[in-house]
Amino acid sequence: MKKILSVSLILACCFSAVAGNKNILPYKDASLPVEERVEDLLSRMTLDEKIAQLNQYSLGSNDNVNNNGEMVKVLPPEIGSLLYTADDAVSRNAMQKRAMEETRLGIPILFGYDTVHGYRTIYPIPLAQGASWNPDLAGEACRVAAQESYDVGIDWTFSPMVDVARDPRWGRVAEGYGEDPYLTSVFGASAVKAYQGDDMSEPGNIAACLKHYVGYGASEAGRDYVYTEISRQSLWSTYLPPFEAGVKAGAATLMSSFNDISGTPGSANHYTMTEILKEMWGHDGFVVGDWHAVKQLVTQGMAPDDATAVEYAINAGLDMDMTDNLYMPHLASLVESGRVSVDRIDDAVRRILRIKFRLGLFEHPYVEEKPENERILLPESLDVARRLAEETFVLLKNEEDVLPLKPGQKVALIGPMAKSQKDLLGSWHGRGLAEDVVSIFDGLSEVLTEAPAYAAGCGFEGDDRSGFDEAVKTASEADVVVLCLGERYSWSGENASRSTIALPEIQEDLLKAVKAAGKPVVVLLSNGRALDLTRISPLADAVLEIWQPGIMGGPAVASVLTGKTNPSGRLTVTFPYTTGQIPIYYCQRHPARDGSQGRYQDIPSTPMYEFGYGLSYTSYDYGTLTVSADSFTVNDTVTARVAVTNAGDMDGKETVQWYVCDPYSTITRPVKELKHFEKKLIPAGESCTFEFEIDPMRDLSYVNWKGERILEPGDYYIIVKDQKVCITLE
Ligand code: NOJ
Repeated sequence: MKKILSVSLILACCFSAVAGNKNILPYKDASLPVEERVEDLLSRMTLDEKIAQLNQYSLGSNDNVNNNGEMVKVLPPEIGSLLYTADDAVSRNAMQKRAMEETRLGIPILFGYDTVHGYRTIYPIPLAQGASWNPDLAGEACRVAAQESYDVGIDWTFSPMVDVARDPRWGRVAEGYGEDPYLTSVFGASAVKAYQGDDMSEPGNIAACLKHYVGYGASEAGRDYVYTEISRQSLWSTYLPPFEAGVKAGAATLMSSFNDISGTPGSANHYTMTEILKEMWGHDGFVVGDWHAVKQLVTQGMAPDDATAVEYAINAGLDMDMTDNLYMPHLASLVESGRVSVDRIDDAVRRILRIKFRLGLFEHPYVEEKPENERILLPESLDVARRLAEETFVLLKNEEDVLPLKPGQKVALIGPMAKSQKDLLGSWHGRGLAEDVVSIFDGLSEVLTEAPAYAAGCGFEGDDRSGFDEAVKTASEADVVVLCLGERYSWSGENASRSTIALPEIQEDLLKAVKAAGKPVVVLLSNGRALDLTRISPLADAVLEIWQPGIMGGPAVASVLTGKTNPSGRLTVTFPYTTGQIPIYYCQRHPARDGSQGRYQDIPSTPMYEFGYGLSYTSYDYGTLTVSADSFTVNDTVTARVAVTNAGDMDGKETVQWYVCDPYSTITRPVKELKHFEKKLIPAGESCTFEFEIDPMRDLSYVNWKGERILEPGDYYIIVKDQKVCITLE
């Protein structure tokens, strides 16, 4: 049978070549439309060649401790994709050469990698990027990441992560943009466009991957890899919107998630992968499973054996198997026994080939081997990383204007984070190196006339308080203390859940001890999640959240502390009062009783710092909120406007956050929902007008549990800061 097949294939090849009157096979002809090339190539492939395209193996030593599993010894050159963990183009090109020259059809391999917040020029973690409220600037950073990745031979990044996450115990909150579906959608779409550019085949562009599809952020109790209980309504209103926005932005691929979505794991979920993504949204790229997600269908208690896991996954719509090495050995017999159809295989192969063609891999399979100084840590890349870091910092408290530091002040720099380099990188730091990072100490030393006096005080955790005395002495000899606390880079990210979001006691004790020296204390926090600051905030005169800012963290901190840059970050995750308030997020639905009922007896029921919160060194006065019409029809657009004046004496960037509220609706709706935001520089003393063009269907409607968009007549509120106006849909 196989022989007959290959003879007919050879004949088909010759025929097309002659029929096209060219010396080139149609699928190799770049002048033909992608779809024609895909169909031509597919028609020439054997079942084994097709199945090979549906696998991703791993090339190079693995640098993620959670990606454990068997490494493949022999890499077949017919393979669809490789997870490429080496760091130069040489081995990549060598492997590609085998695919191009030693295989029958010469189909290039797709090289994927986790370039999450930078490849070598590591910029702030995604959670921090969200806090910048500047998706364009975050996009600039993604461009740098794409260029550095492309130059080393990466065609495809497993980013952006657009999981809405509302439990800071879950370590992966660091990898997303926060708790809000709209803000996550905007940043996700911006990242997709930045990675892919207008045309993925242009040099420097790489394919994006929206992950983890879907609902991974709902991990129960903040533990990783566990069950998620997600109603169809929450799926549609909370977890799907960022994926839909990313698909609309053109995302080439999606990664199916590990989590069990109310009884059906994301990687075996026909409803999400096929019915929603491919049928309703018309996505024509492909879905890759997360690392070992197919095998895990067995662990999750769904498939009794590997073959059944493969059957469930591929039939649900998972096109490429990441490093499980299960599609390769099982698919042919599943096809033979009729458990998987050839049509499904063809559909999956088409999707993968389409992306390879769109990336221009058939025309440009190899990457130019450039010297490091032409491709990584370029001055303009460092500049983007610094500017982005500066905009992500959130000033949470600033009593008596202790910040910015005053010229000539003697600064004591204390704490375990002060000289740390690696921790500022955060999790998933690609090929970033600790030695690339400018520490807070080095950054400040650069700009202060007198280098800060330094004492570590203690480690990040443990009981060794022997450094406290020196820290207190250093504090007492200074005019102001900058105390650098926070989380190690490995305390967030994958498989990094924590049962409490408070910092270890020793760090809180260091603050107490240093505070007793009687000097103003600025607490600088570097971390990958919302923290419980109940015992920290009251003792601090100022608190600056710097997240995990990447390699330019030190200079960015120096610029903000000294007032060269006015802090403009705003939280995109609620900081609970304590861990016990979780889940707490701004867009909760109305409770049945309000006032004093339904409250905690032992702690406040309001958060410590809410979504959207952040201070500045200047103050902004908001004028009266106006709307262009009080009532409207579904086809009208209403414009809401507010003028904002910078009433202080320092230039600053203000983000106006526009929320809507539908007070009464057939299904209950959140107390308010972010629908638009804009960040602008307002010079001191000047005013700027901000606008929100309200498209009723887009901005006021809701999506029901079936994914239908519903707009109901009645009143809606448009909310900005503490003002709201009512508009009525006739
Ligand atoms: C597992 C993670 O969940 C995913 O985010 C990542 O892209 C893959 N491993 C590949 O490293």
